[in-house]
This record gives sequence, structure tokens and C-alpha cells, in this order.
Amino acid sequence: MTENNEKGLKTETSITEVVFPSMVNQYGTLFGGNALQWMDKAAWICATRFSRKMMVTIASDRVEFKRPVIKGDMVELCARVKKVGRTSVTIDVFMYSEKALSGKRELATKGEFVMVAVNDQGQSIPVIDQ
Ligand SMILES: CC(C)(COP(=O)(O)OP(=O)(O)OC[C@H]1O[C@@H](n2cnc3c(N)ncnc32)[C@H](O)[C@@H]1OP(=O)(O)O)[C@@H](O)C(=O)NCCC(=O)NCCS
Repeated sequence: MTENNEKGLKTETSITEVVFPSMVNQYGTLFGGNALQWMDKAAWICATRFSRKMMVTIASDRVEFKRPVIKGDMVELCARVKKVGRTSVTIDVFMYSEKALSGKRELATKGEFVMVAVNDQGQSIPVIDQ
């Protein structure tokens, strides 16, 4: 899923992953660090498709692990542009778990990621060309 705003900039994107055995903790549920990695990846893809600039993560906030995700589940990460600043874009990321056989889906984790546009020297630059 990739949606465009009125200026033709892509504001939404989603990626799907699978919870393999190596990704779970000792309780058989998805390790939080793996969830954060996927969420950061989805935020980066969303911000990059929106800006078509080099983007780096400067902050993440309000990450909530609401439901456990278990081995064998699929997860869909839905990212969307929430706010556009001068050099930054704030992305909301929602991670849904999906049972492989029944298709049952529920919100597992959500969070906010702030991505900054940078140049070749790693300095922040405007997200939107003036
Ligand atoms: C990205 C980087 C170049 C920005 O440096 P900078 O230009 O001095 O940063 P600024 O303080 O001016 O902030 C840049 C933007 O981020 C926003 N920002 C900074 N800190 C923030 C925070 N804690 N929460 C939300 N937004 C924040 C600022 O409001 C600004 O946005 P705006 O221009 O849209 O108003 C620098 O912080 C950096 O290199 N960070 C490391 C990035 C990285 O390696 N990420 C991977 C981490 S694993």
C-alpha cells in the first residue's frame, strides 16, 4: 500500500514480515528489539518515498507494545506521514500481527519516529525543496 497526497508525494507505505524462530525471546514472543528494527525500517521507507532524500532517524517516541506477537505470525507494518517540519518528517508506525492460518489480525505495537533529511556530509537539509 502506498498512497499519494495532493502533491503526488507518497505519504503511506506498508511492509510485511514473518516472525521466524530466531526472532523470539525465551517466552516465544517477538523480541522487542526486532519489532523496533522493523518499525524503524518502515518509517525510513515511508520518509524516503515521501522526500526522495537521504533520511536518518533522530528520535522515536511513544512506542507501545500492546499485544505479544508469536513465532510464525506475519506482521504488517503500516507507516504514514503525520507531520512535515523543515528538516524532519514525523512518521506514525502501526505494527499488526496476523495469524498465518486464520488471518486474525490485531494491533500489536505502535510508535512515532522522527526522520531527518541529510546531505552527503550528514548535515540536515530541508525535506521539501523550496
Ligand atoms: C540528523 C542530524 C544530522 C540532525 O542534526 P541537527 O540538524 O543539528 O538537528 P536539529 O536539532 O537541528 O534537529 C533537526 C530536526 O529534527 C527535529 N528534532 C531534533 N530532535 C528531536 C527530538 N528529540 N524529537 C523530535 N524531533 C526532533 C528538530 O525539531 C528538527 O526538525 P525541523 O527542522 O523539522 O524543525 C544529527 O542529529 C545526527 O546525525 N543524528 C544521528 C542520526 C543517526 O545516526 N540515526 C540513526 C540512529 S540508530
